Amino acid sequence: MPGTSSFLIVANRLPVDRVGEDMWRRSPGGLVTAIAPVLQRREGAWIGWHGAPDERLDPFEHDGMHLIPVPLSEQEVELYYEGFSNATLWPLYHDVVATPVYSRALWDAYRLVNERFARAAAEAAAPDAVVWVQDYQLQLVPAMLRRLRPDVRIGFFLHIPFPPGELFQQLPWRRELLEGLLGADLVGFQRPGGAANFIRLCRKTLGLQYQKHEIYVEDRVVRAEAFPISVDFGELDVLVREPHIVARAQEIRRDLGNPEHVLLGVDRLDYTKGIGQRLKAFGELLADGSIKPGEAVFVQIATPSRERVEEYIRLRDSIELQVGRINGEQGELGQQPVQYLHQSYDRDELAALYLAADVMVVTPLRDGMNLVAKEYISCRHDLRGALVLSEFAGAAEELKQAFMVNPYDVDGLKRTMLTAMRATPHDLSRRMRSLRRRVATYDVDRWAQDFLAALEA
Ligand code: ADP
Ligand code: F6P
Repeated sequence: MPGTSSFLIVANRLPVDRVGEDMWRRSPGGLVTAIAPVLQRREGAWIGWHGAPDERLDPFEHDGMHLIPVPLSEQEVELYYEGFSNATLWPLYHDVVATPVYSRALWDAYRLVNERFARAAAEAAAPDAVVWVQDYQLQLVPAMLRRLRPDVRIGFFLHIPFPPGELFQQLPWRRELLEGLLGADLVGFQRPGGAANFIRLCRKTLGLQYQKHEIYVEDRVVRAEAFPISVDFGELDVLVREPHIVARAQEIRRDLGNPEHVLLGVDRLDYTKGIGQRLKAFGELLADGSIKPGEAVFVQIATPSRERVEEYIRLRDSIELQVGRINGEQGELGQQPVQYLHQSYDRDELAALYLAADVMVVTPLRDGMNLVAKEYISCRHDLRGALVLSEFAGAAEELKQAFMVNPYDVDGLKRTMLTAMRATPHDLSRRMRSLRRRVATYDVDRWAQDFLAALEA
């Protein structure tokens, strides 16, 4: 029996966070902001895990959205989420900056959980519904869903990079994953390079014919194209002009001792983000006297993330050791050059931090897009502030006027951080104006519209 939802989002997580027994709050973040209005307009539903293991919940309504929770057992969280998703696929798709774990037990759990999501979607979808599957945790869902419901239109968007063939071929289950994705009518990537990698792999691994963006799969055509995701420029642009945010930004600078330069990093605590590299560069600038004591403060906000996965445990230890060393060697009584906070913050506090920062340092070793870079730009209507951006972030393809760096090159990183700190107001405003034009035009709403228009064409 088909369901009643004509538009479905299928994602690893539901777009809400629990704030009490039966109380939920809409999760922050661009994806939810972009998709929630579409969902509300189209009487859609969102299928996803609600975040707690070993708990079954009935579907519920929140904020005009119909939410369908998918249960995960404690063991599935360990094998499917922490395991195959975040210890196998995550490092493999990010240039193997950590060593991926290849384990049949993890794969089995991934397949099983993907099947559960596909079944939930098949049950909820109305005849001829549009189903939009999100991200690397659910790459088998498109083909599984197509088998159950050949009538529905299926889109898939990968939020992280899609790796080159030389890396992807390591995966013992490479055929299954490609076939899983090919169940979609449209497969979206962050960058054209990701789409090209995917198309070449379909040719090489599965022997499929293709032309430009179209892959021929039996009697169907699958399109593979880039749709770079973005942020809600308008919302941030308004928020950051509010008096309480402006006052808070001033207060932050005061609390930091009103240094000449405030440098800022905002990331999930993830080994792909290049946090260690940027701290090393900053520490060396202090040690070699390029930055005078008290002249600059580096604020590093690191959201706790995937805290039971081994590589993340190791990373935390190493970053905290590094921060301690820099502050121990370069700090003074009452004055610490690195302010490290292992915490999550709400939108207002993040906006105030962006406004308070002279230099935003975004140095991932590999990143699908990096929304933090686009959020910073959205907040700088004053046309001040410098963005130091890794050439290995998807955002680098669009944000050409940033101060570009190779995060593996410590000397280059030091030079670029200094250049950004010493840039003239004229240079900064010229760059920021161009960056803002790009993000204002290609915001997250445009991203969702472009993807859905291509899917439904
Ligand atoms: P990723 O998807 O890999 O985490 P992005 O930079 O693309 O990286 O997106 C991160 C999102 O998480 C951004 O919207 C950012 O504002 C948010 N975020 C990052 N750090 C924090 C934090 N400490 N508190 C709250 N939100 C955060
Ligand atoms: O952008 C990649 C991503 O894994 C998203 O799929 C996810 O929403 C976000 O990062 C946070 O990751 P997690 O759900 O593992 O906390």
